[in-house]
Amino acid sequence: MADLAMRGGKTAVSRDIAVRWPVIGAQEREAALRVLDSGVLCGANAPQIVALEEEFARFAGTRFCLATNSGTAALHMAVAAAGIGPGDEVVTSAFTYPASALAILQHNAVPTFADIDPVTFNMDPADVERRITPRTRAIMPVHIHGLPCDMDALNAIARRHDLVVIEDAAQAHGAAYRSRRTGALGDMAAFSLNATKNLPCGEGGLLTTGNERFFERAAALRVLGQSRDEVPLDPVHPLDSEGDSEFAGLGWMYLTQEIPAAIARVQLRRLQEFNTNAAANAALLTARLEAIPGVLPPRCPADRTHVYHKYRVRLDRDRLGLPSDPRPIRDRVVAALRAEGVEIRLWLDRPVPEMPLFQTRTGYGRGCPWTCHGSDVRYAPGDHPKTSALLADSFVVGSQSYPLFPQPPLLMQQYADAFEKVFERLPDLLDTGAR
Ligand SMILES: Cc1ncc(COP(=O)(O)O)c(C=O)c1O
Repeated sequence: MADLAMRGGKTAVSRDIAVRWPVIGAQEREAALRVLDSGVLCGANAPQIVALEEEFARFAGTRFCLATNSGTAALHMAVAAAGIGPGDEVVTSAFTYPASALAILQHNAVPTFADIDPVTFNMDPADVERRITPRTRAIMPVHIHGLPCDMDALNAIARRHDLVVIEDAAQAHGAAYRSRRTGALGDMAAFSLNATKNLPCGEGGLLTTGNERFFERAAALRVLGQSRDEVPLDPVHPLDSEGDSEFAGLGWMYLTQEIPAAIARVQLRRLQEFNTNAAANAALLTARLEAIPGVLPPRCPADRTHVYHKYRVRLDRDRLGLPSDPRPIRDRVVAALRAEGVEIRLWLDRPVPEMPLFQTRTGYGRGCPWTCHGSDVRYAPGDHPKTSALLADSFVVGSQSYPLFPQPPLLMQQYADAFEKVFERLPDLLDTGAR
């Protein structure tokens, strides 16, 4: 048996074939240069921004789209456009990037957190319903790692309790639920276009909706509360609109710019190619990893497509006889796989409500915002046991710099070779952890 790389053996993975993300080519460069040559760098009605909005709305199957300078901005705009106010509660997932919760806090609303389904890692509809109170106004399902949530169940809960549904689709561009794409599965949706995402442009975001009222409100919120200017950009006076828009309410400056929008348009044309490659790589990995005792690859229900923004593997606690806190063993396995050359990240170590922001009262100097609004929501540690369990016994294969979507299949075969090598030596690896 070949020695583990962590003990001086040869690595299973030849790192020189890994492709770094994002993949920027001649088309992106030309698109950015064309913007510079045009001299139009920004503007709500600037040509690249408007074209991106039209193209993405068509892609997602929604009526409206607004391009923003981040996914968090798009989420915040959706929360505000939904009419959610101080002290109102929004149920989101305990397993998400903290930005989902921050977008709720940014509007002085109160996030509450549902636990996950341990198979899909998405919020469990039954737990969502348990967490609804008379102050709940919205649900924010997060399509985590690129797999859509059980939207029929969540939309039915929303209808029963008269709630707005805001998809956090930051990780799930092009993923589908029952043949409909994310962005068209709730009342509003937010996508991130940051450089780590399947659809990257640097920093940026997109808000989609089929609801004209939400669209008009969100459009005003995006530009300092100024109502939407319907007059197309005048190429001779691109900075001097003659439209009759008004400052009609509170807003922020969440507009994106022409260069990121131009890059996002090129990447949108390549999105399906990368998503298809991600799914093929995931299928290849899964076919080999599921044959290894103790490894549980991710599952995608038959009524959905997964775009594998992240590919998360669990350790089978029963099969491996793991102790109640499996993290030291998980970390040993991760160290061995990394030494073989596999890109691995933990991507979060605890449920969002257990992060310091929700556990200390000092984050904002004058107390956390939710306490100012008479909220009696408390973020008790241990309240999301399925999320905690997942984050203790799992890890992500691939990193943000080297995710699955641009990789050649050979790299996946080598990753699987590394898993086989490490798991064949698992008893030895764990026995002699101190070596
Ligand atoms: C689930 C989730 N929600 C929200 C965001 C926020 O997006 P952004 O970084 O573009 O603000 C991200 C990514 O960063 C995310 O992964």
